[in-house]
Amino acid sequence: MIIDILTVFPEMFESPLNTSLIGKAINKGLLTVNIHNIRDYTTDKHFRTDDSPFGGGVGMVMSPQPLFDLYDKILADAQNEGKKPLSLYMSPQGGVLNVDMAAELSEEEHIVILCGHYEGVDQRVLDTYVDREVSIGDYVLTGGELPALVLIDAVARFVSGVLGKGESATNDSFSDGLLESPQYTRPSEFRGQSVPSVLLSGDHKRISEWRRKESLRVTMEKRPELLDNVTLSKTDKRYIKEIQAEMQGNKSEEGSENE
Ligand code: ADE
Repeated sequence: MIIDILTVFPEMFESPLNTSLIGKAINKGLLTVNIHNIRDYTTDKHFRTDDSPFGGGVGMVMSPQPLFDLYDKILADAQNEGKKPLSLYMSPQGGVLNVDMAAELSEEEHIVILCGHYEGVDQRVLDTYVDREVSIGDYVLTGGELPALVLIDAVARFVSGVLGKGESATNDSFSDGLLESPQYTRPSEFRGQSVPSVLLSGDHKRISEWRRKESLRVTMEKRPELLDNVTLSKTDKRYIKEIQAEMQGNKSEEGSENE
């Protein structure tokens, strides 16, 4: 997968893209990320990439000229290779990124991401080049660089070969609509706390049943609204009844302790 980034702060991408699984994916050639400095494309003699808004108001707006020139170059290069990239603009006005959108975007061969700044981007740029606006949540950040990095990380996890052997983004929290069950590692006993014995049993059937039930429990405790969109099996429904009874039991135990 190829990702082209348009930014006025290219240095913000250095460490995140050189580290951890994303760094490895780039080294392995599974992901190619090209960072373009918008400032390199301005024809302004003071190297400015923004200007004050027509009609007045505070802040600055990113100017069309450097962005048109940069987009034209990226799109012409892609066209020469027979590619038509999907063009995204990171913006709090966009559709909110979730696991389904990340999986869907991972199917794209080539994505171009514009990171906005200041009070926004001249609308003519968006009208001419942008296919889709993407937000990472209902809050406003100082620029689109961190959102672009969040998007790249979430999308890259669905690109085949990026996660380790046997790992899969489709087993993660949210991918089956539920949160993940708790995880433990060695030692089995630590500061008086032991790992649930079923995980040490070697009985894979019981382990996967335990994980499913705990997944349901964690979702019921932390994000109960997610269950509205999950298709529950008969066994799931039985687990939920058991969990509700256990929760009820815990509550009445707490109550009697406080008496
Ligand atoms: N730029 C500023 N805030 C943003 C957000 N929440 N999501 C995407 N891009 C942004």
